[in-house]
Amino acid sequence: MWFGVVTLFPEIFTALQSGITGRAIEEKLIHIACFNPRDYTQNKYRNVDDRPYGGGPGMIMMTQPLRDAIHTAKESAPASPAVIYLSPQGKMFNQKTAEEWITKKNIVFVAGRYEGIDERILQTEIDEEWSIGNYVLSGGEFAALVMIDAMTRLLPDALGHKDSAAKDSLSSGLLKYPQYTRPEVLEGLAVPDVLLSGNHAAIERWRLKQSLGKTWLKRPDLLQEKKLTKDELNLLMEFVEEQKNGKCNSSN
Ligand SMILES: C[S@@+](CC[C@H](N)C(=O)[O-])C[C@H]1O[C@@H](n2cnc3c(N)ncnc32)[C@H](O)[C@@H]1O
Repeated sequence: MWFGVVTLFPEIFTALQSGITGRAIEEKLIHIACFNPRDYTQNKYRNVDDRPYGGGPGMIMMTQPLRDAIHTAKESAPASPAVIYLSPQGKMFNQKTAEEWITKKNIVFVAGRYEGIDERILQTEIDEEWSIGNYVLSGGEFAALVMIDAMTRLLPDALGHKDSAAKDSLSSGLLKYPQYTRPEVLEGLAVPDVLLSGNHAAIERWRLKQSLGKTWLKRPDLLQEKKLTKDELNLLMEFVEEQKNGKCNSSN
């Protein structure tokens, strides 16, 4: 995938050079190109902010350098890109969005700063506005990092194990089952017997039940959006019964 990012702070994107995204860059699964509006200024002081018409607090990103940076980003993309403005006013980004966007292949993210961007740039340059949550960040860079990371791990070959991403929380509409590593007993708490049994069918069934149960306990809103099969419903009922009887994380 090709990501162009229009940003006043390209150095923030060096964070992507670590871990899974770092390996994806090395292996050319993703390419990240930054376009800094400051490089497109035509004023003596290389200013990139401007006063809002009508007065009021704060500054707005200066239109000319921002437009020029967006145009260069669009022209640099290998194919016509989707242009996305990161904004607290946008639609909410989630796992499903990440899954849909990896089919886009080319995306330009426009990271706002100050009080944001001129409304006419939204109308003429931006295809979609997206948010990462109901809070206000100081810049869109952090939202772009989140989105690029979430998409990268979904790309084929980005993760060490092929089906890791498919088993992540939310990818199936459920939270991930509880996970354990050594030692077998930690602070008096033992790993559920079933995980030591070597019985793969029983392990799968236990994991599905725990996924359903965890989702029911922590994110019941997700269950309302998911159509459960009869088997899943039965497993969830079993989990609920076990909870009532105080049998948490049992090996059944
Ligand atoms: C301080 S904010 C500006 C907020 C703007 N004055 C408003 O009330 O909508 C600066 C920039 O951070 C980015 N930003 C802030 N919150 C965000 C969020 N929840 N999701 C995505 N981007 C966000 C946007 O690019 C925004 O232009």
